[in-house]
Amino acid sequence: MIDLNKCTPAKRAMDIPSFIVMDVLEKAQELEREGRHIIHMEIGEPDFPTPACICEGAVKAIRDGRTHYTHSLGLIELREAVCRHYFEKYGVEVNPDQVMVTSGTSPALFMIFSGLLDPGDQIILSDPHYPCYPNFADFLKADPVFVKVHEDQGFQYRIEDIGKAVGKRTKAVLVNSPSNPTGTLLSPDRMAAIAGLGPYVVSDEIYHGLVYEDKEHSILEFTDRAFVLNGFSKAYAMTGWRLGYVIAPKEFMRPLQKIQQNFFISAGSISQWAGVKALNEAAADVEKMRAVYNERRKYLLRRLRDLGFVIKVEPKGAFYILVNAKHLAESSYDLAFDILEKAGVGVSPGIDFGRNAEGYLRLSYANSLENIKEGLDRIESYLQSC
Ligand SMILES: Cc1ncc(COP(=O)(O)O)c(C=O)c1O
Repeated sequence: MIDLNKCTPAKRAMDIPSFIVMDVLEKAQELEREGRHIIHMEIGEPDFPTPACICEGAVKAIRDGRTHYTHSLGLIELREAVCRHYFEKYGVEVNPDQVMVTSGTSPALFMIFSGLLDPGDQIILSDPHYPCYPNFADFLKADPVFVKVHEDQGFQYRIEDIGKAVGKRTKAVLVNSPSNPTGTLLSPDRMAAIAGLGPYVVSDEIYHGLVYEDKEHSILEFTDRAFVLNGFSKAYAMTGWRLGYVIAPKEFMRPLQKIQQNFFISAGSISQWAGVKALNEAAADVEKMRAVYNERRKYLLRRLRDLGFVIKVEPKGAFYILVNAKHLAESSYDLAFDILEKAGVGVSPGIDFGRNAEGYLRLSYANSLENIKEGLDRIESYLQSC
């Protein structure tokens, strides 16, 4: 006899929170189906097409019949290209044996957390943070510990605050520079200090390449006790290709490889050949996109200031600005949906990124300058009618 109480999804599946930004996007799409024109500034997805040389690499891979499983760690050509990239850009020596190619940065993150965190282990995260980080930790029964980062300090981690949060159960500190949602670039001295604290550092470097002032640093410049996750979605405009990678300490490689073999077998072969082209040939394309993002960033900052928003420290990387909107509403969730419905502009509520981001809105400039202008005009009219 079937126990009907057991005919429910697993608790972990019921408990995992949704991405609020997806709720905004889905509402925006509903309005679009009703005939409304919506400007999307909620999504963190490049509006550029994937550069031609990368697409050609994929087409060639298909034509050459490279359509099978690859080695579970990934194509050696791609792992070598990752090592070359890290050497040329950051001066760090990585062995291809320490690189595992994944189907995007999200699986890379999941596998690193799975390979590193036992139930009850703690991982220190900034608040605000990318929404998936604590959700992945919770899913694995590890405990996220939040360290607040503040707007007037450019949303930079304070080492003394991390120090206070480190305890016997702390396994790792996560850094994300440039950061989603703040656009902050962590200074090299702070990265060095975090590396020296003792726990492993997990460094999400997915927005590297999209830096407009200053220079990004890899955690590997400061320590080997680190896990890098990186991917092709953002800098190479390859969200749909699902391609990323992990760089990990040698002793973790075999466990990570076994997780990959069991869960994913390997990343997609065609995407991997495209990734080889991206790293070897697309630097000039990335540079062009970066220059356009920077133009949009400057425009957005100027317009937001003209509209009365106070921006204490300008974002230096990624394609987001987390703007303080506490003078407009207490609930960023209500405010975001109100702006969507009344002004027809999608923005992300700060609460999606942690309690410390309540009262903020995240605006993405991964949209054309023309659309950003229109979006800001609409927000201006919305503010005038409030
Ligand atoms: C900080 C950060 N890490 C990881 C990801 C996941 O990227 P993907 O799985 O497309 O490589 C994202 C996507 O928005 C992100 O913003």
